[in-house]
Amino acid sequence: MSEGAIDFYTGHPISSEIIIERLTKAEPSVARPGATLPPEALFPHDQDHYGGLEANDALAGLAGLKPGMEVVDFCAGLGGPARYLAHRYGVRVTGVELTPARVSGAGRLSRLVGLQDRVRVVEGDVTAAPLPDASADAVLSQEAFLHVPDKAAAMREAFRILRPGGRLAFTDWVAHEPMSAEDSALMRRGMAVAGLESLEGWRGLIAAAGFSLESVEDRTADWAPILKARLAMFRAMREEAAAAGTPTGDSDFHESYVRFVDLVAAGRLGGGRFAAVKPGQGG
Ligand SMILES: C[S@@+](CC[C@H](N)C(=O)[O-])C[C@H]1O[C@@H](n2cnc3c(N)ncnc32)[C@H](O)[C@@H]1O
Repeated sequence: MSEGAIDFYTGHPISSEIIIERLTKAEPSVARPGATLPPEALFPHDQDHYGGLEANDALAGLAGLKPGMEVVDFCAGLGGPARYLAHRYGVRVTGVELTPARVSGAGRLSRLVGLQDRVRVVEGDVTAAPLPDASADAVLSQEAFLHVPDKAAAMREAFRILRPGGRLAFTDWVAHEPMSAEDSALMRRGMAVAGLESLEGWRGLIAAAGFSLESVEDRTADWAPILKARLAMFRAMREEAAAAGTPTGDSDFHESYVRFVDLVAAGRLGGGRFAAVKPGQGG
């Protein structure tokens, strides 16, 4: 269980309230009860991973998504990727999400764009997913296992809920070299990082859960500029808040993000993209 992650995401600078406030500024009728928007209206705001919609498409390709498939998004956040995949690929998506404020925010955003019948985000921990055995065609996840202390258990759960032939595709932070004790403490304090695997470490965990590994990609070079841009966005939000005389947000978060961006630029931390299949019929 990751108490730190719940606190971190309950107070995260991007929330469903902030997204709705931004949309309402552009179009005041959004605030009216029963208002609806096209799904595309949310995509610039609700993707809490690196690489935006293209990153979703890359995982959809690795998982072989087809209309009608049952997809599970581990650590679904506000449901941004889940809504995009349902809309773009015609799949049904169940998100498993630990933080209650994210679960309720996801429900609110899905209703706002009329996708509540094809996207549901349920409260739960991916190390004990509240979903039946062999019920999913694909399990996806983005930038979230860094918060999960027992990554082996998350892999076993993905394996359990997939049907034989079902696919796993995810991205996560990776450590190309072990973090110093000081950096680990800063990352834990500022961004609820429970621990990181190397690319090799992930290969081992995926195989140990029973999967047949299909691909491992080092995403570090692609992430470095994306992270710099996200840091600039968070900096601008802090400056805006300071200028408005409102709280500028958590300074541990800011300090850890600055350090994270430096560590990725130096190639000491980075990103990995993984794809695997559950052996059996129906691939
Ligand atoms: C960086 S956000 C990613 C959200 C989403 N994947 C996206 O791309 O927009 C990570 C999410 O993982 C969730 N989380 C952390 N630990 C979890 C766990 N053990 N089980 C389920 N969700 C978890 C957090 O609450 C947070 O919403």
